[in-house]
Amino acid sequence: MAASVFLTVNGCRHAITAAGNTPLLAILRNDLGLNGPKYGCGLGACGACTVLMDGKAARSCVVSLNAAAKCKNIVTLEGLSPDGSDPVQKAVVAAQAAQCGYCLNGMVMTLRAFLDANPHPDEDELKAALRYNLCRCGTHVEIMRAARIAAG
Ligand code: FES
Repeated sequence: MAASVFLTVNGCRHAITAAGNTPLLAILRNDLGLNGPKYGCGLGACGACTVLMDGKAARSCVVSLNAAAKCKNIVTLEGLSPDGSDPVQKAVVAAQAAQCGYCLNGMVMTLRAFLDANPHPDEDELKAALRYNLCRCGTHVEIMRAARIAAG
């Protein structure tokens, strides 16, 4: 049954009317027109849909609208830095990490959350941070290069 709740996304408050179990990913893409989070598996397994929920990486395909409404702020790629100036985004460009690019938004958001919590990771920590973000093109080598650049 549809109900109205408020979501704060990229600093803007939105009234959303939908069933409480609607995936956050569907709300972001279909209701709010935010296409940064991508639909990959829909099962919480690939990471393409990753957003920040109160600063922590979350897979928006498996977060319900009701759960999202409890969050103070949700950040999508669009809200990370509208001009692409976030150091993680710049590192992805510098490393030419994209092949098809579909997974990269989720990689960027996952890495942003990780580096905010752990600004000076070692190689193993970087690998562990991204190990559950999947890239079907197999460009993990370039993505890891971007991660090293972003980590300084
Ligand atoms: Fe959400 Fe794959 S689409 S984890």
